[in-house]
Amino acid sequence: MSSSDNNITYKKTSFLAGVNSEFINEFYADYISDPNSLPESWRKFFEGLSDDEKLVYENLKGPSWSPEKKNKRPKLLFQEKNKNNLSSHLMGGLEAKGVPKNLKNTAFPFTYNNLDELNNIIKNHDIGAIKMEVSRNFKPKNNFLKKIRSICDRKNIVLIFDECTSGFRQTFGGLHKLYNVEPDIAWFGKALGNGYSISAIIGKREIMDHAQDTFMSSTFWTERSGSVAALETLKQMEKIKSWEIITKKGKKVQKKWNEIAKSNHIKINVLGIPALSTFSIESEEWLKYKTFISQEMLKKKMLCGNALFLSVKHDEKTLNDYFDNLNDIFKKISKFENKSLDIDSFIDGSICQSGFQRLN
Ligand SMILES: Cc1ncc(COP(=O)(O)O)c(C=O)c1O
Repeated sequence: MSSSDNNITYKKTSFLAGVNSEFINEFYADYISDPNSLPESWRKFFEGLSDDEKLVYENLKGPSWSPEKKNKRPKLLFQEKNKNNLSSHLMGGLEAKGVPKNLKNTAFPFTYNNLDELNNIIKNHDIGAIKMEVSRNFKPKNNFLKKIRSICDRKNIVLIFDECTSGFRQTFGGLHKLYNVEPDIAWFGKALGNGYSISAIIGKREIMDHAQDTFMSSTFWTERSGSVAALETLKQMEKIKSWEIITKKGKKVQKKWNEIAKSNHIKINVLGIPALSTFSIESEEWLKYKTFISQEMLKKKMLCGNALFLSVKHDEKTLNDYFDNLNDIFKKISKFENKSLDIDSFIDGSICQSGFQRLN
């Protein structure tokens, strides 16, 4: 065989190398139980082997007397959608491509303000860190944050607050300052750079010092525009107390939303810290209405949906124009709700997705 023949053979068969054996075994098990569950190329490959399928299947399952092998399937490198209840992301409407199965049972979600759920997880698993937003749609109830802090202290768990979005929106720094709960680590982004790309991590020395024992690098580490922007943003925010301005504006927005909804006989739920306000309409047609709001606002040259992230540059006139437009839209929505108009004939394109949600 010439060396080019070798190369061709290698190219065609290298995926069969030992490192992939478990992956291929799993695919084979799927092929045996339902050939149509595999992409055509894999189906053809297994068909070409002409193996005795029954024998292969038995072999995969292991001997019937072996309890740990019974029903056990080899590990799959990447988890496919619907094969198990793992999913690679939380965004509806996207095709999950999968996550490594090894990550199963390494992260456990808990519901905000549900301390029992959290305690239960901690009781049953060896938890190293709790990572959460301080508050997003709901305020902490019954000293939720303080209780989490004391659980972390007792169990030696690192408490990490994701302040990427909440930081600098209600205090000069993290939202945790408002609730007087100190995390072990917190990180910031967004408002910190006022549009420039910057993120920052703060933390207790004994925890942050672990970074000294690892290698970290980045091609653009020395790129300064984000850092310069953040330093200037900090200066400006402190000077004008921007978090107070946007909180005041946000409170006004929430009040006005409720007023407009009420005058149009629409039931809405308003959520979020004032500077990051969101609303939803209580209706089965909500996603259509959400689409309709964006569609109609765009016609008025306003890019918005059901959320308003306030900026100091949202002036009185802009907000009033927005409320006028929203009032017109709510008027139509109330007609959709009382069935005097049909929402479907008012949507120009496809309906929006519901946004982040748990898929498992
Ligand atoms: C709470 C929170 N954390 C993290 C992120 C992701 O931030 P980045 O785009 O900097 O990775 C977001 C983005 O919206 C966020 O809202």
